[in-house]
Amino acid sequence: MDKPKVVLGVSGGIAAYKACELLRRFTESGHGVRVVPTASALHFVGAATWSALSGNPVATEVWDDVHQVPHVRIGQHADLVVVAPATADMLAKAAHGLADDLLTNTLLTARCPVVFAPAMHTEMWEHPATQDNVATLRRRGAVVIEPAVGRLTGVDTGKGRLPDPAEIFEVCRRVLARGVTEPDLRGRHVVVSAGGTREPLDPVRFLGNRSSGKQGYALARTAAARGARVTLVSANAGLPDPAGVDVVRVGTAVQLREAVLKAAADADAVVMAAAVADFRPAVYATGKIKKRDGQDPDPIVLVRNPDILAEISADRARPGQVVVGFAAETDDVLANGRAKLARKGCDLLVVNEVGEARTFGSEENEAVVLGADGSETPVPHGPKEALADTVWDLVVRRLA
Ligand code: C5P
Repeated sequence: MDKPKVVLGVSGGIAAYKACELLRRFTESGHGVRVVPTASALHFVGAATWSALSGNPVATEVWDDVHQVPHVRIGQHADLVVVAPATADMLAKAAHGLADDLLTNTLLTARCPVVFAPAMHTEMWEHPATQDNVATLRRRGAVVIEPAVGRLTGVDTGKGRLPDPAEIFEVCRRVLARGVTEPDLRGRHVVVSAGGTREPLDPVRFLGNRSSGKQGYALARTAAARGARVTLVSANAGLPDPAGVDVVRVGTAVQLREAVLKAAADADAVVMAAAVADFRPAVYATGKIKKRDGQDPDPIVLVRNPDILAEISADRARPGQVVVGFAAETDDVLANGRAKLARKGCDLLVVNEVGEARTFGSEENEAVVLGADGSETPVPHGPKEALADTVWDLVVRRLA
């Protein structure tokens, strides 16, 4: 099979240096990449870097190698065009069909999916001109990733950062595999919890679990790709923020409850993928617990944590809100799952079988999604994103 052909457009913003890592991810995973920087992008990262990392020639203008008609050929032959970073100026040119250099020509001749990863100062991103251009590009079928929130050039912070290159790569990988997906969650707000809570015993120790957060992050990423506004309540996951997702970090079950209830107030769906500790230590020692010579340790007394899933299921923040839970079972998976679905009162319960080496931390998952309506949707062994998409398919059906 031919390598998938990717055009990496780079426009003139400081985040251009991060596109080098994106480029490496493409080449290392077997994609052929042609980098097309704008002239201003070369102020930040030079042509030699792009050429060495991609193994391909680099040009910014339509006047190089004219006999090969590059301004038409590069776009026509691409399987994917991704522009990262996309400046406000680049979005404006693309929205209006200007074609004054090689990249803008390429955008007009490409018939493959196009992904823009904007990066700019918050004021420029929020300006109605930019927002109109983004809306135009999305209406035409381009994927425009929401910028991340955080530190911008200098001392400013706000929305406008280029998302993590690993996450831009994930968006591109999905677009290459599935094409531009129907934004069937557009206009919806969804809340996803992910990771595992840690219940502190003293300043250095906690009771925790082995949840990696990968399934919850896959749910957040796929919901964003399907057009949703996503709040990801993340407990100790240590994973890069998915592109276009608002991430709220928490530690304990009590903090997770507070963050989920707050975000759920206007949510269309809540998916509780986090592994929430059922119990926490009854007392928190403000100093490190010491071992004492010749004495047995004090027993650890536990108290119950609130059951967040049961609480939001019983007391829906808005009518028609869809609530989804997860259940990790080691035996009698379906019977235990049915009983748990009834006990929790949620609409859907994703049940998977777990063991020491299964599911936790792995890239793959296998599950059955049980519905309160009696439905049973098996999801074969596969990537966590495939399970995530099945969950959203079922949620979309219930929201309709
Ligand atoms: O009861 P169990 O822990 O097996 O239930 C798992 C489901 O319930 C998950 O969706 C988890 O996020 C949620 N849960 C919760 N609050 C707890 C314990 C679990 O919301 N205290």
